[in-house]
This record gives sequence, structure tokens and C-alpha cells, in this order.
Amino acid sequence: MSEEWLARWKRGQTGWHEAGGSAALRKFWPGLPAGSRVLVPMCGKSADLLWLEQQGLDVTGVELSGIAVRAFFAETGVPFDIETGDGLPLFKARQRNLRIHCGDYFQFTARPFDAVYDRAALVALPPELRPAYARHTRALMQADAVHLLITLEYDQSMVNGPPYSVPADEVKGYWPDLRRVGDKSALKNMPPKYREANLSEFVEAVWLNT
Ligand SMILES: C[S@@+](CC[C@H](N)C(=O)[O-])C[C@H]1O[C@@H](n2cnc3c(N)ncnc32)[C@H](O)[C@@H]1O
Repeated sequence: MSEEWLARWKRGQTGWHEAGGSAALRKFWPGLPAGSRVLVPMCGKSADLLWLEQQGLDVTGVELSGIAVRAFFAETGVPFDIETGDGLPLFKARQRNLRIHCGDYFQFTARPFDAVYDRAALVALPPELRPAYARHTRALMQADAVHLLITLEYDQSMVNGPPYSVPADEVKGYWPDLRRVGDKSALKNMPPKYREANLSEFVEAVWLNT
């Protein structure tokens, strides 16, 4: 699985990337006290990292691919330093509250975060890895942490992921405190393989626990 992601980054096959960031994040993110620590699992080169930091938050991303991490800093123009130590290599933005740990999310440990923002991380994983992802993410969250999750829903029997369809029942099974606060048809922005499969429904669902 990891090899496939690394290969995608090598080929520049990053159709999920939204250059302007996520509209759902901007719409649903609750105000949090300045300095709150936010975790962004499997962050890619998401522009949302910078948006969250600009809200006064202390942002930590975790991403497998060094190509993605370097692309984030190159494309945003944010200067950075690299630290290597016991844990995953750390790319630290200079004079900003923003850093990305480069490596396997399942190996990432830290003291629990005040909030988690997940766009296209849970849905990047096949069904057999998702329970472990949910457990690991829960272990990285304070008991009262804010949790914003964006998932996709479509007919999985017609086309395979990633990104995978994650049914509402599965989401509620992992995190009973999440409420569905938004959903939007994403039929117009479907990646080509979904268009070719002629899906009649492709929904972006937004979940929040506050
Ligand atoms: C669909 S992309 C989403 C990226 C980002 N969240 C966004 O919204 O643009 C999934 C990302 O997860 C990364 N990834 C996959 N498995 C991972 C793992 N085990 N640890 C860390 N990152 C991983 C991939 O390299 C890829 O960048």
C-alpha cells in the first residue's frame, strides 16, 4: 500500500490535491483558541495546512512521501529546516507554527492533539486498514479533541478505491460522537476512473463532533 502511494507521488499522479484547499474545511472548521494543536494525518501537500496555521493554530502534518512534503514547502514558498532524531524526519517551517513529519502515520507518536482534520486520509485506506487508522488516530487525540472528517460515499461495487467509499455506519462505528454536518455531490469533480464507471452518486460527506 505504502509503495503505491510513493509511486503515485513519483509519477505526479495527485488528482486529489486541491490547490485552493478544501471549501468544507473553511465552512465547517470551528473557532479554536490560538495555539491549539491540530493534527493533519496523511496530509500530502495540502494547502489546508497553511490555512489552519493562519487561523492561529499549531499545525502538525504527517505524510509518507518526501516528494509531497518538499512540494508543500516549494509551492507555498515557506522556508523550512529538517530535523532528524529518534522519530520520523521532521520538516519544520521557519518562524511558523507548522511542521510535517515525513514517514508512516502508523509509526507516528506524539502527545495527544486538541484537534484532528482528516480530508482524504481515512478514505485513502482500504477497509482492512481503517480500523487500525481509527484506533491510532483516537490515541493521538485528547478526550475532548475537535474532529473534522471528510469522507466520500459512492457505489463501491462499481469501482475500486482509493479513494474508497466509507459508509456512514462505519464512520459512526469508529467515532460515535461525529455528526454529519454537510454533504455535497461531487459528481462534477470525480476523478476519471469514477467518471468512466458512470457513477450516478459521488458524495462528499463532512463530519464534526462539536
Ligand atoms: C488521497 S491523499 C490526501 C492528501 C491530503 N490529505 C489532501 O487532502 O490533499 C492520501 C495521502 O496519504 C499519504 N499516505 C498514505 N499512506 C500513508 C501512511 N501510512 N502514512 C503517512 N501518509 C500516508 C499518501 O502519500 C497521500 O499523500
